[in-house]
Amino acid sequence: MNVLITGGAGFIGSCFARTAALEKADWNCVVLDKLTYAGSETNLEPVSDKVTFVKGDIADTDLLNRLFQKYEFRVVVNFAAETHVDRSIKNPEAFITNDIIGAYRLLEVCKSYDLDQFVQISTDEVYGEVLEGFSVETDPLMPRNPYSASKCASDRLAFSYFATYDLPVVISRCSNNYGPYQHPEKLIPLFVTRLMEGKKVPLYGDGMNIRDWLYVEDHVRAIFCLIDKAEIGEVYNISANEEHVNKEITHMILEEMSLGLERIEYVEDRVGHDRRYSMNSQKIRDLGWKPRYSFQESFSKTVQWYRQNESWWKSL
Ligand SMILES: NC(=O)c1ccc[n+]([C@@H]2O[C@H](COP(=O)([O-])OP(=O)(O)OC[C@H]3O[C@@H](n4cnc5c(N)ncnc54)[C@H](O)[C@@H]3O)[C@@H](O)[C@H]2O)c1
Repeated sequence: MNVLITGGAGFIGSCFARTAALEKADWNCVVLDKLTYAGSETNLEPVSDKVTFVKGDIADTDLLNRLFQKYEFRVVVNFAAETHVDRSIKNPEAFITNDIIGAYRLLEVCKSYDLDQFVQISTDEVYGEVLEGFSVETDPLMPRNPYSASKCASDRLAFSYFATYDLPVVISRCSNNYGPYQHPEKLIPLFVTRLMEGKKVPLYGDGMNIRDWLYVEDHVRAIFCLIDKAEIGEVYNISANEEHVNKEITHMILEEMSLGLERIEYVEDRVGHDRRYSMNSQKIRDLGWKPRYSFQESFSKTVQWYRQNESWWKSL
């Protein structure tokens, strides 16, 4: 089966491609990625003989048509997006261009071909902040920053292609991922790499914002589960129910690196910083998925990975 992985040179997409190349013997994976600052072909190096890499934009209709005609994809997984909330606050336009218009162009091309499934990778951030309880898939979407608003637009746009044109769309909304190969602008790699350089770590506000942490390989296997078993037209939350405040995550990194709390520098909070996201993921668990890895073990493995792979993050 030919599978198109867009954004497959980024953090989660490359984990998806690496894992699929090793575990899905009957899949032939093609990665399409425009290699923004966040994407790197080196993320695919471990499987470069098994995965085809194409540099290009999901908004490039001609290129997409050529790829569809050549490979006759059965499944498309759309990871491609601008992904950093802070950048979206400074420059929303890149998010409108890539996350909304890019997704629209990709959906338009996909609707002209015979596909088994189009997976749109959305996020828990589309629900907006959830101070109490857990978001379920039918909850209203209340995104509060340009990143989550753009992701909300592509999430609903993908759904509209199911409802209007019968495109076999499935939407996944996952929580905060962590693991190897994440760009060092994101919290865990940012803090580990700054500490390695002898710097302090900038913790937003009072450090009490809550995120639900999901190991990237668990996320990838959840998408495999959706490709096998999801009902077309449905939305699935993906979370490991590992809620931790940012301060606790910071303390865990410091402890892992045998460093003291004086390395924390509290900085002015992100504007409109959502206090908490939290989702109920029973719907995908009913399909048989559950996280394989313990938080403590995979967190520690992740910190070690950045410590042992300095050449990877220094070359970005
Ligand atoms: N990282 C998380 O915790 C998280 C949580 C929920 C949802 N998501 C979603 O998962 C997906 C992947 O996230 P990530 O953390 O791997 O992001 P990332 O920033 O590491 O990677 C994104 C990749 O998309 C590529 N890209 C961007 N615009 C493109 C375009 N127009 N055409 C082709 N390629 C393009 C980039 O070059 C990069 O390789 C995104 O859609 C993101 O919104 C991420």
